[in-house]
Amino acid sequence: MTTKLNQELQTEVAKRRTFAIISHPDAGKTTLTEKLLLFGGAIRLAGSVKARKASKHATSDWMEIEKQRGISVTSSVMQFDYEGHRINILDTPGHQDFSEDTYRTLTAADSAVMLIDSAKGVEAQTKKLFQVCRKRGIPIFTFINKMDREGQSPYDLLEELEQVLGIRSYPMNWPIGSGRDFRGVYDREKTRLELFKGEEHTHISVRDVSGPEDPLVKEIAGEFLHQKLCEDLELLDVAGDPFDMEKVLNGELTPVFFGSGINNFGVQTFLDNFLELAPIPEPRNSTSGSIEPTEENFSGFVFKIQANMNPAHRDRIAFLRIVSGKFERGMSVRHVRAGKEIKLAQPQQFLAQDRDIVDTAYPGDIIGLFDPGIFRIGDSLSQKGDIMFDELPTFSPELFSKVTVKNALKHKQYQKGIDQLTEEGTVQVFTTIGFEDTILGVVGQLQFEVLEYRMKAEYGVDIQLQRMSFQFARWIVGDNIDAGKFRINSQLVKDKKGNFVALFENEYALRTAMDKLPDVKFLETAP
Ligand code: G4P
Repeated sequence: MTTKLNQELQTEVAKRRTFAIISHPDAGKTTLTEKLLLFGGAIRLAGSVKARKASKHATSDWMEIEKQRGISVTSSVMQFDYEGHRINILDTPGHQDFSEDTYRTLTAADSAVMLIDSAKGVEAQTKKLFQVCRKRGIPIFTFINKMDREGQSPYDLLEELEQVLGIRSYPMNWPIGSGRDFRGVYDREKTRLELFKGEEHTHISVRDVSGPEDPLVKEIAGEFLHQKLCEDLELLDVAGDPFDMEKVLNGELTPVFFGSGINNFGVQTFLDNFLELAPIPEPRNSTSGSIEPTEENFSGFVFKIQANMNPAHRDRIAFLRIVSGKFERGMSVRHVRAGKEIKLAQPQQFLAQDRDIVDTAYPGDIIGLFDPGIFRIGDSLSQKGDIMFDELPTFSPELFSKVTVKNALKHKQYQKGIDQLTEEGTVQVFTTIGFEDTILGVVGQLQFEVLEYRMKAEYGVDIQLQRMSFQFARWIVGDNIDAGKFRINSQLVKDKKGNFVALFENEYALRTAMDKLPDVKFLETAP
């Protein structure tokens, strides 16, 4: 029998799409996010997305370090409504503020939008973020941006997706010219032209045609570009991959759209198609099996903890991705790891930098919970029963430092701080074998800065970080692991749980070790 709540959940879940944008700095993520929010009529928010980039606009309750650098330290969540849908965009910080949080945020998304600069193609950060999405097997939608500028040929870009990322593609539309000659795109499904006017597009300007050979296409494109378009489309039909929804949903085939974010060109077409193709909030694995979003029992997991959003209160916010059931303000839930009941009294939803109190929320939504220090990354909350969601992966750090306390008398506070901050996922801690020295590992430099800042501000401890030359970490699994095998440009250490981890100075050292120890597994995430 379907209950009223079950019906409500089905309706709310069907409306929702939760995704993250993955890209390299400068590809146009801020611009695209702003345009997407504008479709939801969220003009005020759109402004504040842009404002986040300029330090002078930062509001007073931002973490000190954010103010100093004029950046957003940790990802926030933006929500908007469009055409009967409720859309949650998880922001993945780009520039120097790239961190393990960026990766973790991807675990809360059901799909990803990969944004690529048409001139630069696949760049380093996109590649890293893509790999995290690939491991989860989530669908990836590609937007090739800046078509109003001279870029690489669309074929070369698709080839790069396949060569560099190993993903096949299906162009949903195809550009007619580029840069100064950019005329627009030809929509393969709807057989229509979307015209580019070279200015901010307030609405889509389209012309229905019978196919690429239609005289109207020639009239608009000009002889040369028309011929090129016909040839390109023919080649795509013959040699390109067919559209396959199953492959899209498994993340094996990416639908590709061409456009120009700054001109708002191709953005709405992208959004409309995305909403049609992207998955609704997905079930998640747990100790009690797969948890469906429409299950009435409210449950969710913490994927990120953000500290000090309000320095006056030194509070922390735990970001919870709702997996199932309905969230209602003030409800009591089980904090499964702690084995305690807690009341969710002051939940917040994140709209750019504004924080609003939320009364109800559904699967796919992200809520921020006031955290007096009780949550850890990966914690599960459940209204009934001890549901524990799969642990979040620990990602391989790329920067390493030795850490020492400036004032030896502060050792106790130092230990407490390091323990708590690693639990929150600020940095990863490794211990050398024999000497028990502490080595810290991070994905992005900012994590070190946040650690230094918080150790001082919250624990009163000055620490000294000494950068080490390691660049790679691999979890080592196998029999008879011998530290002596990791002496040259490498070192064997242990992580917090006692797993062996080998650190390498360069790719050559890593490869040599892998060749020498064929029976040992070298894992990029913790076992
Ligand atoms: P990011 O968040 O990915 O780092 O990128 P952001 O949106 O800030 O865009 C980076 C630069 O690229 C900006 O220029 C932006 O205006 C430009 N841009 C974004 N989309 C397009 C596009 O479709 N076509 C062209 N030609 N440019 C685009 P900027 O000069 O660095 O900043 P601004 O002064 O314009 O804000």
